[in-house]
Amino acid sequence: MSATPSLAMAALLAAGMLQPAAALDNGVGLTPPLGWSSWCDDGRCGRDYCTENETKAAAEALLANGLAGLGYRWLLLDDCWAAEARTAAGQLAWDPARFPAGIPALAAWLHARGLKLGVYTSAGNATCSNGGRGGVVPGSEGHYQRDADTFAAWAVDYVKVDWCGDVKNMPADGVAVGARDYKNFSEALTHTGAGRAMYFEAVAAVLFLRSSVPQYANAWRAAVDHHDEWSNLMDIIRTVQLLGIPGSPGAWSYMDVLMTGGQGCPDGAPGSHCPGMTDTEYVSEFNLWAIMQSPLIVATDVRNMTGVMNDLLKNQRILALHQDTRTPPGRFIGGDSKCIFGELTCQQWVRVLADGGVWVVLFNAGATSARLGIDFAQRAASLPPGFNASTRVAVSDLLSSATTTAIGQWEATVLSHGVSSVVLTPM
Ligand code: GLA
Repeated sequence: MSATPSLAMAALLAAGMLQPAAALDNGVGLTPPLGWSSWCDDGRCGRDYCTENETKAAAEALLANGLAGLGYRWLLLDDCWAAEARTAAGQLAWDPARFPAGIPALAAWLHARGLKLGVYTSAGNATCSNGGRGGVVPGSEGHYQRDADTFAAWAVDYVKVDWCGDVKNMPADGVAVGARDYKNFSEALTHTGAGRAMYFEAVAAVLFLRSSVPQYANAWRAAVDHHDEWSNLMDIIRTVQLLGIPGSPGAWSYMDVLMTGGQGCPDGAPGSHCPGMTDTEYVSEFNLWAIMQSPLIVATDVRNMTGVMNDLLKNQRILALHQDTRTPPGRFIGGDSKCIFGELTCQQWVRVLADGGVWVVLFNAGATSARLGIDFAQRAASLPPGFNASTRVAVSDLLSSATTTAIGQWEATVLSHGVSSVVLTPM
């Protein structure tokens, strides 16, 4: 957040509409990360695309196809990099078959190219899956400081801490246990011997820490795992509408990886995506993730960019808004009352911008095309000061680049499962 809030923001703050949460102050994640995750890329989620060579191939693809230049610089290894046993000295180790040169060498290779490396562990005694191997992969239980020190010594930039293993058998005081464990991991990561600031994704922490989660984590998962399915996307949106905690610089509400273009085919056929959603649905996914300032972590095959991947992931106007932290993230403000089942089907998402304009995403979750709108007078409380029935705005479509003007309201015909994504600026 900038030291001098805009007039629009100052008015909103004064009206008590925005409550920027105190965020973890470890100096990383001041803007929501953009990057790539090994989870799901090579077939259905559960079989990571995760060896030393595969990670380098993904990195080379990001560098070659322009995504790295646009900010997609974090390469995040999911539940797949670690060996099935600790060393005799009790340290976590990498899987030597998958990472023969080791994690520090991979970190150095990525850093030399301006990229960053993430690893995964669990707060419990095992990770959530074995990454396609036979056994159980150890989690960090009983070793939080040791593992944080190890990651720092390897020059890792990002640590994802999941909630799997014995901790899943929640005792009666499970919420307190979860809160304690995530706080302890947060402490461990900020106090490593190497003094290295590492981005902390505390996967399940919001369940235990609720509104205090931004103080301890650079990101927390806002909802269930994202899969390449429309019904799952709607489950995530519903959870965020009901329970979402907004992000702020240094502490982001993470909607989970992006499935843009399709997560891969069950047979792992090279170069194929087997999309589980339509292009219209991927457009909605990307715009909703972006307006909420979720980290944008692609979990599809970036070596084989499809048309929708190129169009969305490289949309520079949306990326610029996503990285702009001068105002709080966007949020769901309600439904278009003219629309049948408005709250459920004709959703209005709004982000006030620093220049007095507003980013509006009209999301049609219904089964048929519909006319969706936002009436400035009716929604005045959620819009920048001065938006009313006679406000004339310049309308700039973030997807098509078309421009027009409107007075007192903005309306558009929106495809089933699609969005209209526009910036409205008073003229
Ligand atoms: C959990 C997490 C996923 C992924 C898998 C790996 O399901 O929520 O994001 O990390 O574990 O096993």
